[in-house]
Amino acid sequence: MYDFAADPAQPKAELYRELTAAAEALTAGESDAVANMANVAALLWQFLPELNWAGFYRVIDGELVLGPFCGKPACIRIPFGQGVCGAAAASGASQRVADVNAFPGHIACDAASRAELVVPVRRGGQVIAVIDLDAPREGRFEPDDQTGIEALARILADRI
Ligand code: SME
Repeated sequence: MYDFAADPAQPKAELYRELTAAAEALTAGESDAVANMANVAALLWQFLPELNWAGFYRVIDGELVLGPFCGKPACIRIPFGQGVCGAAAASGASQRVADVNAFPGHIACDAASRAELVVPVRRGGQVIAVIDLDAPREGRFEPDDQTGIEALARILADRI
């Protein structure tokens, strides 16, 4: 549906503008949250280089529960406050971690993961989900990545 070949020379801001525009177009008018998260997980995987996991955890009854993703099978339930995802959900703040081995309580789903970016999706002031990206290279995620994923999270707030 979306053919896209990542160009390593493309400025990140431009890459994220394309990604958010594609996500906006793909989810417009569709009310099914699972369908929208599944397509956005696929877009993240397609657009962003150097990832080994990209997807969603949803807030259900006070804990994080695995949602649509691309990558290897992952932990299904994560309590608030645990690991990088749990820290993002509990604090409501994005977590950009250069080296997960140095993050207290990091939950290792895949030993290949070194860097992680977790961005909360908020609706009506509440965290309803987190977007989780994992990468095998230390320091993979830069401030531009965080800004780009936060823009995506705002678009998804009332679509997932
Ligand atoms: N590493 C995460 C757990 C989720 S997986 O990486 C997909 C964490 O510490 O929250």
